[in-house]
Formats: sequence, structure tokens, C-alpha cells
Amino acid sequence: MDIRAVRGMNDILPEEAVLWRFVEEEARRIFALYGFEELRPPLLERTELFLRGIGDETDVVEKQMYTFTDKGGDSVTLRPEATACVLRAVIEHGILNKDPVAKLYTIGPMFRYERPQKGRFRQFHQINAERLGEDGPLADAETLAMAYDIVRSVLGGEGLVMEVNSLGCKQCRPAFTEALKAFLAAREDLLCSDCRRRMVSNPLRVLDCKVPTCKEAVMDAPTLDATLCGGCREHHECVKEGLDALGVRYEQNVHLVRGLDYYTRTTFEIVSASLGSNSAVAGGGRYDDLLGLLGGPPVGGIGFAIGMERLVMLAPEGLAKKGEGCFVAAQNTHEARLEALRLMMELRGNGIPADSALGRSFKAQMRRADKGGHPVCVIVGEEELRTGTVSLRDMRTGSQETVPRADLVSRILSVLDKGKGEKA
Ligand code: HAM
Repeated sequence: MDIRAVRGMNDILPEEAVLWRFVEEEARRIFALYGFEELRPPLLERTELFLRGIGDETDVVEKQMYTFTDKGGDSVTLRPEATACVLRAVIEHGILNKDPVAKLYTIGPMFRYERPQKGRFRQFHQINAERLGEDGPLADAETLAMAYDIVRSVLGGEGLVMEVNSLGCKQCRPAFTEALKAFLAAREDLLCSDCRRRMVSNPLRVLDCKVPTCKEAVMDAPTLDATLCGGCREHHECVKEGLDALGVRYEQNVHLVRGLDYYTRTTFEIVSASLGSNSAVAGGGRYDDLLGLLGGPPVGGIGFAIGMERLVMLAPEGLAKKGEGCFVAAQNTHEARLEALRLMMELRGNGIPADSALGRSFKAQMRRADKGGHPVCVIVGEEELRTGTVSLRDMRTGSQETVPRADLVSRILSVLDKGKGEKA
């Protein structure tokens, strides 16, 4: 039998998981600095949530959802994104009744049935943030800065560009939509069948189509900046002023429309040229009507999601290292191995990682100690048992010493500490 992982879904192997953990810890550290709290919604939601939340004519809803009927006859969907789920939870638990401002983050897998390619998978992971209850533009600026901070803490600033745009609001978007419809009608022949349908019902989506001929057809399409109302224009200018104050560099990209329907006003992406065609490491924006649309209070919000696979792909080598501890080896007697077990519990009790392979021969254990990368190897044998000692081998220098059993923990701590000092 040859059972392999489902296409587009990847195992994260132990040597990669070290970096994934580092990235998650950085994100959590920065979220705490900005006063964000964690919310963990389920992976499966009622399909209706995404139809209403994301927009039923988006690629995500029309083509990419893992939807099925469960045994109770309900249509459910593996979440393709987290925003709708977080807002559903906020409404369901009355979170805004307790506090009019909510700052929430969630980290975990999302599912989209897309064509797998570099940086694009069917199960992928997002670091997602939502900030609800603040309409003012400086909340946008601070949220964008937080996204940038997380990405930068892993990648450094090199090669990253923050692109910003405004998509207008309920008041000014219709004028743009009309201008866009007229533009698209004149180019209908060049559009794919999806876009011919969407150019009437949801023309903004045509600007986001990935089909090359459609992309070319909309190159000179009207842009939103010409039709923004006074309020949206002022909001956008103020977001940029906030970014300046926060020291975040950005570029205005009037073509940035994003792939989901819920955005109003501020939208942004953080892009890296090293990613090729799927260049966005992160994306997000403001959604002033979404909470109301999902049955909640008419409160606005702003958020973003960072693609973890893309972040990890770009991370510099050697950023996160395996935890450093010791390897414990015992000679081939039952007593020596029992003593090794006791030693390891004591080491772990003192916060020192202790690895072993007591089920193998002493020779095989020592081979593992050589390869394992632990800076210290503790050796227990007949002689050590008889004299109440243990042998410590410094794997970096090869030197070995015998220390009283009672001094083991303090001696290892000082050897590990010295190693850290030398690396610094
Ligand atoms: P999104 O632009 O669809 O936005 O996804 C955000 C990020 O997730 C992308 O920039 C990319 O890094 C990553 N991503 C998306 N699809 C895939 C995929 N198939 N494979 C690998 N990575 C992928 C959202 O999901 C919004 N919910 C963001 C948001 C939060 N807006 C407001 N709040």
C-alpha cells in the first residue's frame, strides 16, 4: 500500500518545526506587545458563514472551499480563512458587549482547494489578527505596523514592501463600480467566462482574476483613487500619516484590490520579490460592514493574515536552533541504565533537556551522542556507580571529566552556560 499525504498538504518535519515554533513565538510575543489576545475558533464552520462573509462570487467561495455535508445533513466547510470565524465567535459570545474594543489573534491551518505551486498549498497556515470597534485611521496604521513588525522580526526588513490602497466605502464605491463596468463591457471579448459573469454582478472581482488574458485586459482599468469620497480620502491620508509616525515604509498601489469581498477603505499587502508570482507574505485591510452583515452590531474592524509557509520559506538559515541540552548514555548493565533514568528525571526537573537511547547498546548510544548535536554527554557506567560519580564529556572539545553525582546539575548548567557565552 502506498498512501501519501493529500496533494497540497504538507508534513512539517521535526527539523522544520523548530523554525515554525520560532515564528509562532515571535508572533505571540509581538501580539502581546500590542495588547492582542488569542482566540481559537474551530476549523470547521457552517458553510453559510463563508458565503455571507467572504462573498459568494469570490474565487475562494466559488472554487476553493472544502465543503461537505456532515452526517447530520448540515453543510459545513473547512475554514478557508479566519476573519469570518473570529467575527462569528465575537458575535456568538457577545465579546463586544463586555468591551467595545476587541483585539484578537489566531494562529492555525486554513484550507483552500487551489492549484499547488511555490508558496501556494491546499492546507496552509496563517497568523491572523482582527481589531474591532475602532473606526479611526490610526487604528489601521498601528495594525499595519504590527503586521510589518511580525514579518520583519523573522525576515529582517530587506526586500519587503508594504503596499497600501483604499477601496472606498458604501457611499463612493458605486461610482467606481459604474466606471469599471463600462470599461469592462468594452473588453468583454478578452475576459474569461467567470469574469464575463462577474463584470455585471461584482466587477471588482475581475480586477483580481488570475487568468493572464484577464490580467492584461484590466491593465488600464480605472482605479479607485479617482472616485474616493472626501471621508475615504481623508481616512487614507491619515493612515499614511500614522505609518510615517510609526516609521513604517510603504508604497501606494492603486491596483491593489485583494481577493475577498468584505474590504472597505484601507487594504494592504506585504510583498517580497523573492516569492515569485505568489509574492504576498501578508494581506489584510478594513471591513466596516462585515460584522453587521454577519448579524452583529454595526461596528467596523481591521485585520490581516500572514502566510506562515511563505514566512518560513523566506526565513534566513540558522534562525532557530534545536533546544540545547545533554545526551545521557549508560553502559550495558541494568543498574547503569536505571541510574541513567534517575539522572534524566533530575536533569529534566531542573529544566535541562535530556535525550537518550537506552534501548540500544552502549556503542550505539555513543554514536547517537556524537551525531545528536547536544553539547554535553553524561556517561554512567560500573565505575561511576561504584564511586558515586558521573562522567561528563564536552562534545564540542572532546574533553571528559568525572564529577560527584550530587554536582551533576550545577556542573551541566555551567557547561551549557559557557557554550552560550562562546557563541555570543
Ligand atoms: P488572504 O490574502 O486571502 O487574506 O491571505 C493572507 C495570506 O495568507 C496571503 O498573503 C498568503 O501569504 C497566505 N495564503 C493565502 N492563500 C494561501 C495558500 N493557498 N497557500 C499558502 N499561503 C496562502 C485573508 O485570508 C484575510 N482573511 C486576511 C484578513 C484578516 N483580512 C482582514 N483580516
